[in-house]
Amino acid sequence: MNKKSGIYIHFPFCNVKCGYCDFYSIVNRKESIPDFIKSIVKEIGLYFNSNNSNNLKFDTIFLGGGTPSLIEPHYIEKIFKALSNHIDFSIIKEITIEANPGETSKDYLNGYKEIGINRVSFGFQSLDDKLLKFLDRLHSAKQCIVAFEEARKAGFENINTDMIFNIPGQSLDILSENLKSVIKLQPDHISSYSLTVEKGTMLYNNVSKGKVVMPDEELDYNMYEMTSSIMSNNKYSQYEASNYAKINKECLHNLHYWDLDPYIAFGPSAHGYDGKKRWWNHRSLGLYLSILKKNKLPIKNTEILSSKNKFNEIIMNGLRTSKGINIEKLNRITTLINLEKKIKKWPQLVMEDKYLKLKDNDFMLLDEITADLFIV
Ligand SMILES: C[S@@+](CC[C@H](N)C(=O)[O-])C[C@H]1O[C@@H](n2cnc3c(N)ncnc32)[C@H](O)[C@@H]1O
Ligand code: SF4
Repeated sequence: MNKKSGIYIHFPFCNVKCGYCDFYSIVNRKESIPDFIKSIVKEIGLYFNSNNSNNLKFDTIFLGGGTPSLIEPHYIEKIFKALSNHIDFSIIKEITIEANPGETSKDYLNGYKEIGINRVSFGFQSLDDKLLKFLDRLHSAKQCIVAFEEARKAGFENINTDMIFNIPGQSLDILSENLKSVIKLQPDHISSYSLTVEKGTMLYNNVSKGKVVMPDEELDYNMYEMTSSIMSNNKYSQYEASNYAKINKECLHNLHYWDLDPYIAFGPSAHGYDGKKRWWNHRSLGLYLSILKKNKLPIKNTEILSSKNKFNEIIMNGLRTSKGINIEKLNRITTLINLEKKIKKWPQLVMEDKYLKLKDNDFMLLDEITADLFIV
């Protein structure tokens, strides 16, 4: 049977390293872009020549980063040409590019549209200039609005805006006002993440030294709840804990991750999963380029998913979605006697049409319930 699958491509280049960001991204390396594109093209050829992907039906491509919108459209077209030697582009439903407001020109947006990209994901983060400064963003609130309008003018009918809450100095009022301004733009999709303090980031150092104090858990949760209610009052459906969409505008690529569908991945630090094994590439542009120069795949490591890990991943991802966990998927892996006992413990859980999910999209105890349902 052909399995629905996605393709992820990681572009590590950025104009600035934001203090909270743990993704693999590098500054002052734009002179390496031509070499990088050649390497991605080579990686695609090497991957398809050494892996049988006949059973995978690719229907999404996600250009993530880093800041892929720093890459000229003709370079991205080269990547699409390389992919089209191995996959059927006519059945691709969604091609997303992540873009930073203020760092994506009108010409680039027009070019992306021309080469077949049909979804833009803008990293707004906030519409408060002080908070944007705190986050080290290079753009202003005004530039978010301009970028959004330019993308619509370029013909994009599927636009996401990424927002962040739980930022030091952010109040419920600022957040509410910002969300309402975003909603006025009528994006098709809104992601809203709680700011996390990741080890190794500048934010982590500052929090450790007491230079920055994060909001307390209660405010974090209140911001989450307020976001969720503003979204539902404005007809955005919360189809995942951090993601809201208009009808039929859910991100198909992210749904692949949450459904544990296969996805292949290219670029430094990119992670792939073929249904049985996971693999991940080196998190260094230098290593990535030099290994590919030797005509080898830049894979750092692979891991065959054990039944236990697969079970836990289905729980972790499925419970985050409003659709819930397909219980038959779990049943194929192991007997569910223990799980059934645990489910009874949590009044927040319901079973509907063979899907186990959180009642009324109440994600408050998501982490506790997920941990309890895990096989240890
Ligand atoms: C890694 S960025 C890449 C796209 C683009 N460069 C940007 O900054 O928007 C993708 C998204 O991850 C989210 N993100 C990154 N680090 C985060 C953190 N520590 N806490 C919450 N969200 C984070 C942001 O909302 C961001 O839009
Ligand atoms: S948040 Fe985006 S722009 Fe900032 S460093 Fe990370 S990838 Fe680059």
